[in-house]
Amino acid sequence: MRTRGCGGIGGGDVGGRVSVCGWAQARRDHGGVIFIDLRDHSGVLQVVADPEVSPSLFEIAGRVRGEYVLRAGGTIRLRPAGTENEKLATGTVELAADELEILNAAAPLPFSPGEDAPSEEVKLRHRVLDLRGAPMQKNLRLRHRASSAARRWLEENGFTEVETPMLTRATPEGARDFLVPARLRRGAFYALPQSPQLFKQMLMAAGFERYFQFARCFRDEDLRADRQLEFSQIDAEMAFAGEEDVMAAGEGVVGAMFAAAGLSLELPAPRMTFAEAVRDFGCDRPDLRNPLRLADVGDIMRDVEFAVFAEPARAGDGRVAALCLPGGGDMPRRATDELAAFASAEFGLGGLAFIKVEDANAGAQGLRSPIVKFLPEAALAETVKRAGAKSGDILFFAAGAAAAVNAALAVLRGKLAEERGLLAGGFRPLWITDFPMFETGDDGKRRARHHPFTAPRECDWEKLRGEPDAAMSRAYDLVVNGAEIGGGSIRIHRAEGQLTALAALGVGEEEARRKFGFLLDALDSGAPPHGGIAFGLDRIAAMLAGVSSIRDVIAFPKTQGGACPLTGAPAEVDLRQLRELGVRVVGGKGE
Ligand code: AMO
Ligand code: AMP
Repeated sequence: MRTRGCGGIGGGDVGGRVSVCGWAQARRDHGGVIFIDLRDHSGVLQVVADPEVSPSLFEIAGRVRGEYVLRAGGTIRLRPAGTENEKLATGTVELAADELEILNAAAPLPFSPGEDAPSEEVKLRHRVLDLRGAPMQKNLRLRHRASSAARRWLEENGFTEVETPMLTRATPEGARDFLVPARLRRGAFYALPQSPQLFKQMLMAAGFERYFQFARCFRDEDLRADRQLEFSQIDAEMAFAGEEDVMAAGEGVVGAMFAAAGLSLELPAPRMTFAEAVRDFGCDRPDLRNPLRLADVGDIMRDVEFAVFAEPARAGDGRVAALCLPGGGDMPRRATDELAAFASAEFGLGGLAFIKVEDANAGAQGLRSPIVKFLPEAALAETVKRAGAKSGDILFFAAGAAAAVNAALAVLRGKLAEERGLLAGGFRPLWITDFPMFETGDDGKRRARHHPFTAPRECDWEKLRGEPDAAMSRAYDLVVNGAEIGGGSIRIHRAEGQLTALAALGVGEEEARRKFGFLLDALDSGAPPHGGIAFGLDRIAAMLAGVSSIRDVIAFPKTQGGACPLTGAPAEVDLRQLRELGVRVVGGKGE
């Protein structure tokens, strides 16, 4: 049907005959001649329909509308001097058509491919059009290149791809499950996998030693820019492996993906413990492009009279920390008031104290702040020194429950750096290690920080029994520019140990055997020590494409509300279908 792609045609083709196919991106009528910008996957070529060459061809060209599907044949010629289009790769030439065929018409369009749709809803409803545009074409092809590079790396390093079931039992990864009613067993449900975690561990017991899978995962959680209900992991597991082996393999995979996108990631990535990250950045996924750091000043504030600082400094779960913004001394009152209002509205803090350092060498005299009068000279001097504040800087203080202080300062740190243009360029990877095994959920219950199959540090097995909240795990996360792009751990490989970890979560042996008996049996059958990692493919692809939402690297994503405007999913089903499944909708059909 065609002899060439539109995009590859250039000066070297002048005088040659070609046949091209594609979509009419634009049509212009110019003094009796019609120009059509014809687009295919490779690029855009200008096609010229001249009535003097063929009146019937000119008539066909006149009928062409946006996104009509065409085939054109003719001779390549240089564009007349002065009419070249520098923006187009093929901008020096054009196709003088002597054949033109409409392969298919297109209905009037709600927007043109590559242009902004009137809304996210309309864009996703007409996703086919949106995908035709250059940005989505570029993003999905880039995603493909990156995932093939990852696959190649894994294959070359002895990993075998194994598929694991989509219809399975719930795997606890911390989100809600998607359930599928089992027609053949009324009242029973499959769960869609939140990850292939338990299967990959069983594959280690089964002797595969190095497994990988491009795994689709399902998590019924609230959607955000970096979260979808279904997403893709590059999932891997290794037998007879420790942290170093898995982290090296992880860097191999991610390094290959960045290289495939023509971007560089400085590897090996530096490492930081969870405790250091929280201390210096207030969160467990710091963006290292941001030069701002938190400074703990709790010890300085314990005995001051200013209760706003002294009380949290003395409280067991309290924290008082400072954040220095170099050159921030020029911040007007309105701006500091706004930040204080933000800290109290978003994080429940009483406010956000600040000190402007006018002269760092003049003691308390050189400091401007409503709180200076409440703090002793020595405490002020020590604070300024510890936070590394210089003349012209501003120090912000958050005091209160450690969790709120950390959350507030982590966000403030990002906000200030962005507003002041302090973010360095490039990609800054970082491994976070030494996570606690457990955390306390909003419901006050203990839960696994990673998942319950993560091994504690060798020296913390005892703690797991006696004081589980103090036990540290062998988990690691890979963070790039403040985004968690992957996480994994060394696993518990003995059944007895697995029962101990589950017991710390309040899961007794009977329940453990009922829910995870298959895993315990696999561990008991001679499971090797093993560990692994899973990368968020969508997040990595978004980073490589330089887009802020993973929706822009997924062909058919869901909206914030979990809907697919294109297919109308989720949709109601027939009563008959529900009956067959033994399902009744409470307050709805079938009740
Ligand atoms: P985890 O839950 O940390 O680990 O997931 C691994 C990576 O998957 C990505 N990710 C997501 N991406 C898009 N939308 C989501 N809703 C979403 N949730 C997670 C993140 C994350 O780092 N089984 C373990 C891995 C292991 O231990 O080997 C697991 O699933 O980038
Ligand atoms: P107050 O005693 O509430 O008038 O607060 C005195 C100063 O401390 C004001 O600048 C407040 O913004 C600030 N402040 C109050 N609570 C906190 C807090 N939890 N953390 C940091 N600063 C605070």
